[in-house]
Amino acid sequence: MSEMENPKQIVEEREKEALEALTKENSVQGLTEWKNSFLSKKSPLMQLMSLMRQIPNELKAAYGKLVNDARNAVEKAFEEKMKKAQEEALKEKLEAERIDLTLPGRSYSQGSINPYWEIVDEMSDIFASMGFDIVEGRDVETDHFNFELLNVPKDHPARDMQDTFYLSDSLLLRTQTSAAQAHTMLENEEKKPIKMICPGKCYRRDDDDATHSHEFGQIEGLVVDKGISLADLKGTLELFVKKMFGEKRQIRLRSSFFPFTEPSVEVDVSCSKCGGKGCSLCKGTGWIEILGAGEVHPHVLEMCGYDPKIYSGFAFGVGVERIAMLRYGIDDIRRIYTNDVRFLKDFTEK
Ligand code: PHE
Repeated sequence: MSEMENPKQIVEEREKEALEALTKENSVQGLTEWKNSFLSKKSPLMQLMSLMRQIPNELKAAYGKLVNDARNAVEKAFEEKMKKAQEEALKEKLEAERIDLTLPGRSYSQGSINPYWEIVDEMSDIFASMGFDIVEGRDVETDHFNFELLNVPKDHPARDMQDTFYLSDSLLLRTQTSAAQAHTMLENEEKKPIKMICPGKCYRRDDDDATHSHEFGQIEGLVVDKGISLADLKGTLELFVKKMFGEKRQIRLRSSFFPFTEPSVEVDVSCSKCGGKGCSLCKGTGWIEILGAGEVHPHVLEMCGYDPKIYSGFAFGVGVERIAMLRYGIDDIRRIYTNDVRFLKDFTEK
């Protein structure tokens, strides 16, 4: 290839050509197009370096500097212009898009926490404040934990009341959170004292009506230690009821039967509507049943590794929806499950 005639002149010409074309562009779009033709790899200005081969060795350094200076000058001129053009464009856009702050905003309907969870949270708080741990159970249980370890052997008639959904001969959807009692006792290898509640869903083949559902929530309570008596159960539940329903409410214990507690009791709370005189809500008795409870059966303690001669305990199981219905005056359990926002709103506004 022949040597270039006047390299300096060529560089200056290409620089001038680019700068002249730049003076004609003022818009972002025009400048972008200019950049594509004058600063692209194949542009005459950018190609100057590849002409280096044609420059005699002793002039190569000076030529390189010349090209770089020209390129920097053109790039700098372009950047300044582009910056101005972009500022200008932004200004125009802001002018054109004035926001009218006087327009009313769009309103979104807000949901609220389902009363079911309100009650679970509140009861968890109340029992946690009394020093109870909150334990997570499992929805799918074995026959062994749901029934046998709770003193309900295979042909026990108590199984009739708790028919459920079987996944296999020995796996089922738990009918009661009481299954968590056996887990907690067995998993407690050092056989330390226990004070826990276990909230969770339970399942039974119940006919669904205003007060029953095939799927419902329960909160199990279990205390195991030396010297735990029915008086401890009563004191604990009395405190719970007063915190949940108000200072004026009282409880009463009625004798009952559960295979895994002895003695067993049904716990009633004094009626909120009539204060105990008798009305339609409490069916004239002045009391409303809220939960089942009792002293842990010695055989259950024994099966779960606690020596009943040393340890005793109490347990209770309370229906979450039942508490929600009493607390908020809900007449039909199904309202809790349908998630109708109009119904749920009542609890946001409470
Ligand atoms: N698991 C019993 C039920 O579902 C309630 C209960 C729990 C009773 C703990 C006594 C002790 O009916």
